[in-house]
Amino acid sequence: MKYWEWQTKRVSRIALGSTNFGEPMSVEESWRVMDYAREQGVNFFDTARIYGYWYKEGGRNGYCEKVMGDYMTSRGCRNEIYLVTKGAHPPFEDRGASRLTPQCLREDLEGSLRDLGTDHIDLYFLHRDHPDMDLPAVMETLHAFVKEGKVLALGASNWHYGRIREANEYAEKHALTPFCASQVEWSMAKLADGTAGDKTQVVLTPEEYEAYRKSGLLLMAYTSQAHGLFSKALAAGGYESLAAAGKLGKYKDPANRHRVEAALSLCRKYGVSPAALAVAYITGQDFPAVPILGCSRLEQMKDSLSAADLVLQPEDYKLILQEDII
Ligand SMILES: NC(=O)c1ccc[n+]([C@@H]2O[C@H](COP(=O)([O-])OP(=O)(O)OC[C@H]3O[C@@H](n4cnc5c(N)ncnc54)[C@H](OP(=O)(O)O)[C@@H]3O)[C@@H](O)[C@H]2O)c1
Repeated sequence: MKYWEWQTKRVSRIALGSTNFGEPMSVEESWRVMDYAREQGVNFFDTARIYGYWYKEGGRNGYCEKVMGDYMTSRGCRNEIYLVTKGAHPPFEDRGASRLTPQCLREDLEGSLRDLGTDHIDLYFLHRDHPDMDLPAVMETLHAFVKEGKVLALGASNWHYGRIREANEYAEKHALTPFCASQVEWSMAKLADGTAGDKTQVVLTPEEYEAYRKSGLLLMAYTSQAHGLFSKALAAGGYESLAAAGKLGKYKDPANRHRVEAALSLCRKYGVSPAALAVAYITGQDFPAVPILGCSRLEQMKDSLSAADLVLQPEDYKLILQEDII
C-alpha cells in the first residue's frame, strides 16, 4: 500500500467509499468491507451526510455515516482513520437549490459528528457548489468549524478548479482556512458527452487536470472504477461484447474501445485485474491523487485492492490515453 504524510497523519493513497453501506449492501457486509480495507492498510474513509438518503423509502441523511460511525466505535479504530465527510448537498427533490448557508452548514456538520460518533472530521468537504452562494459567509463559517476544532481541514467537491482558486484567494486575503482538497469524477474511462450525473456534478477536464497537477491540492477521484466498466468488459469477453449487450452505460464514448482493450493488455502484462489497474491509474499520478473505491460486495473490494502497490510506467499511460491527457 502506498502512503504519504498528510497533515501529520500517515494516510493511504487509496480511499474507501461508502455510498452503498447499509443499503443496498447489508450492514454486516459493509463492516466486512471496512475490516478488509483496514487489514490492507486503507485508513482513508470517505462518506457524506446525504449518503443513505435515496436508496429506499424512509432512507435518511446520515445513514451511511451511522453505519461507519457504529463500526468505528465498535472496533475502537476512530483514531487510525483519516475521516472524510461532506455536507451542504442540495435536497434530491430540488437539485438546483442551495444549502450553502451558515445554518445548513452547521446543521449538517453537527449531524455528521453525531452519526459518525466523533468530535472531529479530518477533512470536511462541501458536497456541491452553487453560483448564488455567499462565498464570504461560507468561508467564514468553515473557518469557524476549524477554530472550534470540529474540522481539521477543508475540501470542495464538485467545484470547478477556478472556483476553488477564487475561494482560496478570498481565504488568504482574510486569514481564513483555505481548501486543501478537491473531489471530482475521474477514472481511466472517458465519459460520453452529456452523461455526467446531474448538473451539479463536476467531471475532471484536461485543462483542470493540468491546473491540479501544479496546484498542491489533493485530488480525490470518485467513480474511479467507472462503475466496474473494465472488469465487466473482461467478464463479457471484451469491449465489443459489452457494447453489443448494451451495457456501456455512460461510457459509450468511442475512445473507450481503445482504452478498454489497452487496459486489458496491461492487465495481462502485469498479471493484475482490471479493477486493480483502474486503481493504479490514479495512484500513479505525479501529484497527490487518491481513488475512492466503491463496491457492491466484499469480493469486489478484494479484487480492487489486489495490486495496491502496482506502479504504472509513462508508456502504460501513453498506451491507454494515446493523444488524450486524461
Ligand atoms: N463527491 C461526490 O459527489 C461523489 C460522487 C459519487 C461517489 N463518491 C464517493 O466515491 C465512492 C465510489 O464512487 P462510485 O460508487 O460512484 O464509483 P465506482 O467505485 O466507480 O463504482 C462502484 C461500482 O463499480 C463496480 N465495481 C467496483 N469494483 C469492482 C470490481 N472489482 N469488479 C467489478 N465491478 C466492480 C460495482 O458495480 P456493480 O454494482 O454494477 O457490480 C460497484 O458498485 C462512493 O462510495 C463515494 O464515497 C463521491
